[in-house]
This record gives sequence, structure tokens and C-alpha cells, in this order.
Amino acid sequence: MKMIEIAPSMLSADFGNLDRDVEMVNRSEASWMHLDVMDGVFVPNISYGFPVIKAIGRNARKPLDAHLMIVNPQNYVNQVRDCGVDLMTVHQEACPHLHRVVQQIKDAGMKAGVALNPATPTMMLDDILPELDLVLIMSVNPGFGGQKFIDLALPKVRRMRGLIDSLGLATRIEVDGGVNMQTGKLLADAGADILVAGSFVFGADDPEATIASLKQL
Ligand code: DX5
Ligand code: ZN
Repeated sequence: MKMIEIAPSMLSADFGNLDRDVEMVNRSEASWMHLDVMDGVFVPNISYGFPVIKAIGRNARKPLDAHLMIVNPQNYVNQVRDCGVDLMTVHQEACPHLHRVVQQIKDAGMKAGVALNPATPTMMLDDILPELDLVLIMSVNPGFGGQKFIDLALPKVRRMRGLIDSLGLATRIEVDGGVNMQTGKLLADAGADILVAGSFVFGADDPEATIASLKQL
């Protein structure tokens, strides 16, 4: 059976002890570091930007998975790449010229991902799917850590899994928001490849062990 991969969301890290939390993820069984960039326009919150991503990247020994919750992400592709990001994910809802942005990301030497808000149907990616390294299915409305899992993400993951498999693609499915042991199990069964987990990991007494348990789902 394929093992699920875990991408801890650094949004829930302690920014006063950032190096300590980056080291915890380095030691853990996580496969990625998930970095949430919010602009206060596309989502109703502001998180952090390039200087923080660079600071995390300096000590990270896991590849960086950047989730851009911003308008006009096409204007920042090279800056994201220069921060050492491996995989850049933009929102379908933020990109009227999604195909062009995906090409820009790949031309910059990164893997390309596209995220879908809970109310955006998977169908929106039907045509561009063969171009994508990753689809990020949001299981909360983006903007905040610690929100409750939205159940309609599950049929979306199943539908996306079916489509990817029927086309024989290697595109990965990542799910983000409200992941814990219960929702993580449902997502793994539905066909997710990568689970993002923020508050569940960093709020745990033993974050490293929590990552290991999620990986066993
Ligand atoms: C939400 C972010 C998530 C967030 C997840 O907009 O995209 O990555 O950090 O946090 P939890 O796991 O606490 O729902
Ligand atoms: Zn995210």
C-alpha cells in the first residue's frame, strides 16, 4: 500500500522559535514543508512573505511547498523560486490565465500546483490536469489555521483520484485544512497523496510523533 506523505504547515509554527520548529520538521518523517502566503486580498488574512520563506529555507532539509493565497501570483514566480521553493501552488480562482502561470512556474524550474477552494468544482482543472504536478484540494476556506474540516472535500478527492488514474497521470493530490487523525484517514482512503497539517501537528504535545502517526494512516 502506498504511504501518505505529510506536509506540516509552518503557519502554525512558533515564529519566535522558528529554527527549533524547522529542526523538528527536519527530524520528522514529513516529506515537505508547507508555506502559506496570504495577502489580505485573495483571503481575509495576512501571513508572511519572502523574508520568512528565505529564513525557513536556509535551515530546511525538506523540500519547500509554497501555497500562494494571493492575487496576481504570476508577478512573483521568480521571487518565489529565488527563495528556494520546490513546488509553487497558485489558486485557480486567482488566475484568469492559469495555463500561462503554470508554464511560468515550470519555466522557472519549479513544480507547479493548482489549488481549488471548497466551492470550486474539480471540473475546473479537467483540461489543464496533464500539465500539473499537484492539485491542492482545500478542505477549509483558505485564510486561517485551525478551522473545521469541510466534508465536501472528500467526494472531490475521490473524483480527482478517479480522473488522474483514468488518464494515467502522475499528478499528486494534496489536501489542506482541518486535517487530524480522523479526517486524515478519510482523505487517505479517498485517494489523497499528501496531507497538510498545521494546528494538529504544532498544537500536539509531541509534534514529531504526531507526524509519524499521520503517516501511518
Ligand atoms: C489555510 C492554510 C493551511 C493551514 C492549515 O488557509 O492554507 O495550510 O495552515 O491549518 P490547519 O491544519 O490547522 O487546518
Ligand atoms: Zn496551505
